[in-house]
Amino acid sequence: MILLDRIVKSYPMGHRELVVLQGLSFEIQKGEMVAIMGPSGSGKSTTLNVLGCLDTPTSGRYLLDGRDVSRLNRRELAHVRAKKIGFVFQSYNLLPRISALDNVKLGLKYAGVRDMRLAREALARVGLADRVSHKPVELSGGEQQRVAIARALAKKPPLILADEPTGNLDSRSSADLMTILTELHSEQGNTLVMITHEPEMAQYCERIIHLMDGQVMREERIR
Ligand SMILES: Nc1ncnc2c1ncn2[C@@H]1O[C@H](COP(=O)(O)OP(=O)(O)OP(=O)(O)O)[C@@H](O)[C@H]1O
Ligand SMILES: [Mg+2]
Repeated sequence: MILLDRIVKSYPMGHRELVVLQGLSFEIQKGEMVAIMGPSGSGKSTTLNVLGCLDTPTSGRYLLDGRDVSRLNRRELAHVRAKKIGFVFQSYNLLPRISALDNVKLGLKYAGVRDMRLAREALARVGLADRVSHKPVELSGGEQQRVAIARALAKKPPLILADEPTGNLDSRSSADLMTILTELHSEQGNTLVMITHEPEMAQYCERIIHLMDGQVMREERIR
């Protein structure tokens, strides 16, 4: 599903260059659930942005589903994102003025999906059937993140990317969220890549990729 081949990402910093990803290579199989861990600043979010076609590498190759997406332009990247990728962020990123249901519907609309019944279905699946008309401020943090998961998964994308999805949640809500993510992952058979700082959350995954200074330090198989 994913092949990163010697990915370099650097930023110009005055006369010098800040090299954030230093020849990063790894593979993720279709249907795998993988955690990315590593110290702050090790390049986790940068990696996820590349995987999510939100950003392109300075050099190196990224094959997504067999297609080289490392040299696409902005429009082509947006198309790949809409068709293939669901995102979950630490800060939920819901629109504050509209209901949970409308947030999920908007996600479907952006992805070019017509069937709006999928929105209510996805909210029911994350246990929010009785909260569909609540606005984000009328929901708990855990509930808001479940809306974000419903939004990411409603279009049934082959790849889900999550950047510290439990970062703002207490341990109980985190465990609930990981249970839902794990169940949905095995039901829908999508590939899931999640950044986390918490070893307990990483244990829900099948494999952990440990990053250090923009490189893979080691890989750990959980099951
Ligand atoms: N747009 C940018 N311009 C310049 N430097 C950047 C940019 N984005 C990220 N960096 C730098 O790249 C490094 C890696 O950042 P990244 O956000 O990937 O780290 P991270 O592993 O996700 O850390 P954290 O655990 O704190 O979220 C950091 O040192 C950061 O300052
Ligand atoms: Mg980060």
